[in-house]
Amino acid sequence: MYWNNRYENGAIWGTEKCPSAVLAQDCFREHSARNILVPGCGYGRNSLYLVQKGFNVTAFDISNIAIEYAREQSNKLSLNNLMYVVDSLFEPNLLKEKQFDGIYLSNIIHLFLEEQREQLLDIMTSLLKPNGILAFSVVSIYDKGNYGHGEEVEPNTFMKHKDKLLHCYDEQELHTILEPNYQIIEKRLHTQVELDPSGETEELNLWFVAARKK
Ligand SMILES: C[S@@+](CC[C@H](N)C(=O)[O-])C[C@H]1O[C@@H](n2cnc3c(N)ncnc32)[C@H](O)[C@@H]1O
Repeated sequence: MYWNNRYENGAIWGTEKCPSAVLAQDCFREHSARNILVPGCGYGRNSLYLVQKGFNVTAFDISNIAIEYAREQSNKLSLNNLMYVVDSLFEPNLLKEKQFDGIYLSNIIHLFLEEQREQLLDIMTSLLKPNGILAFSVVSIYDKGNYGHGEEVEPNTFMKHKDKLLHCYDEQELHTILEPNYQIIEKRLHTQVELDPSGETEELNLWFVAARKK
């Protein structure tokens, strides 16, 4: 599996939280969101930050290697209020019954084709309480290192690295996908420095978006 292979190398992007996690926590706090879901949490760099900021966090990922690593870190710190599960974004069985005040997705939604992105957003909406906050980061069309690189498999969706798609969002598309069910409360561009799959440093140009479920 692509992600397990990558996580064989440990904390591949370091252990520091993403800039969007800081923006998300401000938003959750402002809107009194306490119980937060972190889908596609990877090895837990952002869920750890959110729990240390006082939120109750449930986090999951499809990679058992990433979840094992995440659990080890939280056990070392004896953290309560943090639960890790191996689960799928598209059939989150363990989470079916639970509704959250906030959901934070760091660099997840842009990994899929249009049909799956729509499905994913519907699932996230069903996991949120009314007035709940959806916060996420996604690659923008202004990302020079990713936009236009590799085969364009769908509009604005590129296969730069084998087995890894990236969909680059423009502002209009964010409005189009969110407005039926959400009111956008924050939308801004920011940069995040990461290592890409070939081990090169890349400066991602991302949107941070926070939206309230109607
Ligand atoms: C780009 S990484 C981001 C990881 C984490 N959010 C972060 O910022 O550190 C994408 C993550 O999505 C997870 N993922 C991909 N497809 C998934 C699926 N179908 N269900 C659950 N997690 C998935 C991968 O295992 C990987 O950890």
